[in-house]
Amino acid sequence: MTELLQAQARAQELRRQIEHHNYQYYVLDAPEISDQEYDALLRELQELENEHPALVTPDSPTQRVGAEPLKAFGVVKHRRPLLSLGNAFTKDELREWHRKVAKLLPGENLSFVCEHKMDGLAIALTYKDGQFAVGATRGDGEEGENVTQNLRTIRSLPLKVRGEASGAFEVRGEVFLPISGFEKLNKEREKDGLPLFANPRNAAAGSVRQLDPKVTAKRPLDIYIYMLGWVENGEMPQTHWEALELMKKWGFKENPHNHKCDSLEEVEKYYDEWYERRDKLPYEADGIVVKLNSLDQQQRLGSVGREPRWAIAFKFPAHQATTQLKDIGISVGRTGTLNPYAILEPVYVGGVVIRQATLHNEDDIRRKDIRLGDTVVIQRAGDVIPQVVGPVLEKRKDKPPEFSIEEKLRGRDGKAHCPVCGTEIYRPEGEVMYYCPNSSCPAQLQESIEHFVSKPGMDIRGIGEKLSAAFLSEGLVRNVADLYDLKVEQLATREGMGEKSVRNIIDAIAKSKKRPLPNVIFALGIRHIGEENAVLLAHEFSNLKALSEAKEERLDAIPGIGDKIGESILAYFNSPDNCTIIQRLMKILDTPEIPAARKAGPLAGEEFVVTGTLRSMSRDQAWEKIRAAGGTTKPNLTKNTRYLVVGGDAGSKLDKARAAGIETITEEQLLRMLNPPSSGQPRLFS
Ligand code: IVH
Repeated sequence: MTELLQAQARAQELRRQIEHHNYQYYVLDAPEISDQEYDALLRELQELENEHPALVTPDSPTQRVGAEPLKAFGVVKHRRPLLSLGNAFTKDELREWHRKVAKLLPGENLSFVCEHKMDGLAIALTYKDGQFAVGATRGDGEEGENVTQNLRTIRSLPLKVRGEASGAFEVRGEVFLPISGFEKLNKEREKDGLPLFANPRNAAAGSVRQLDPKVTAKRPLDIYIYMLGWVENGEMPQTHWEALELMKKWGFKENPHNHKCDSLEEVEKYYDEWYERRDKLPYEADGIVVKLNSLDQQQRLGSVGREPRWAIAFKFPAHQATTQLKDIGISVGRTGTLNPYAILEPVYVGGVVIRQATLHNEDDIRRKDIRLGDTVVIQRAGDVIPQVVGPVLEKRKDKPPEFSIEEKLRGRDGKAHCPVCGTEIYRPEGEVMYYCPNSSCPAQLQESIEHFVSKPGMDIRGIGEKLSAAFLSEGLVRNVADLYDLKVEQLATREGMGEKSVRNIIDAIAKSKKRPLPNVIFALGIRHIGEENAVLLAHEFSNLKALSEAKEERLDAIPGIGDKIGESILAYFNSPDNCTIIQRLMKILDTPEIPAARKAGPLAGEEFVVTGTLRSMSRDQAWEKIRAAGGTTKPNLTKNTRYLVVGGDAGSKLDKARAAGIETITEEQLLRMLNPPSSGQPRLFS
């Protein structure tokens, strides 16, 4: 045997042993050898590979931290969207969810899998022929960031599947930082004078989204896999529990506290037990996730928007603490609202220092009888801004007068003024909020600029809070459209701005002209239009002009866009100031239209309404299929409705359609009208 062949054989053997011990240690938490023995194996392999670079394979355990830092992450399009979860906060809400599920699956046996709701970062891992190929963040659910190199550094993530696996599959799970790792990391950062992470979730997300995998490798990240996304050439198991078993066999790490429950009572017992013990867990969990066990039932139930009907997050109540209310401040929001907030004696809640908390509005402060100087209970629930629950009355010594925004902001003229621009404030009748009516108020403008340049918006990096404040105060920028007139010279003369940062900002502004429509719509900052609604509107209207001219009836007919949202869209485009900005933006931007291809197809131009319960799909799925085939869908019959699709237990719509002479079709007829379902799509669920 030549030396190289010998070395190759030894390298293979070492890799086999190291993988085995990795699995024992990181996945099963049951090491068989000492750390020194493990290090010796790894060192021997490293030396062999150094001597014979030709022997290095991408899945070698030495390669977990091999990659060079990236300039930016690539984008990964998820084959199937990564969904989010609806929430239940009380047992009544959980029971209500159960009741709905039972009603949609009449007479069927229901069993569930309960899991901890890990507070980390959702990721999707694709394996090809048994090898870890691509790891992506959830992103907006449709597309995420390619963080493969960073995920490779997580020791409990198998680079190779155990046993035989051909074809491709995807598993999903949560990357998290155990609390001990989080505390250690923050201590080190404090020592190094670096900003601290607010909580383990931010720390985990920050670590995975590092451009340099070597930094990620130093963070003690862990991963629990909680879902099989899709399998290409194999059978999908029948149940979620079997999928968990299968993934465990493949070598994935799963939460040992996952539990199969055959009744709602068992689910409630699981919740009670973990609610009691949650503070003893080595990681942060903000509730439990209840999933319907049968994958067939899951598929039949489908989802509403991004939330599956077949699963729910049953949240633990928020973490609470008491502290002193030192003062009440007023900030001005993007839409001019005057938002009271509590200035607190700093206090730790669930591992985070809280200095400020929201007070919602004046009515709420009075209803809760919160007075300056009170000892107050504050609470934090996951991501949500901390809130003041109420005063601890026994601890109150003096009782200052009731808080009043007008009093707080009253000037010498006896009137209340915006704390930022000085314009007189007002409170519209029937509303709880006070407003600064000045749409050029620097606070509003600054918020709207920060929102416009944010990542889910126009993604113009480099313009943060400080720079936007400076642009405004110097009069360089008066609204978001002015950003596109900024010149290199105007930026270059600024303190602390190197040539490179100026170039980056100017490039980012130029690049943003091609931002996709959903991001542009989000960036405008229309009240109630978050990322998901922006996607809905973009697909409905295809371009900004059509959206800006939308009529009430058209907005009303979009599933998912309710009255409040519709009104806010109309109000936004009715404002002359906004119209001027939109006109300018339409000239400046080069937004790609949403491809018309979506509008072509066998049902092109036809309007459908669906009524009653369908057998093979949920109503959302039917809508999606109709739209994918070029049709349009409406929740109610209109004068343009071409077909009413009639499912079981159809109600008054059927009578109305008959009376109006609208053609009714069955689910089977609809399916025949649609494209054959397998048109080039990979087989996901068999
Ligand atoms: S299942 C439709 N299982 O919760 C299924 N998600 O709000 C959605 N999460 O983005 C995923 N623990 O990051 C699932 N045991 C668990 C989970 C879990 C935490 C997160 C996940 C997801 C978010 C949904």
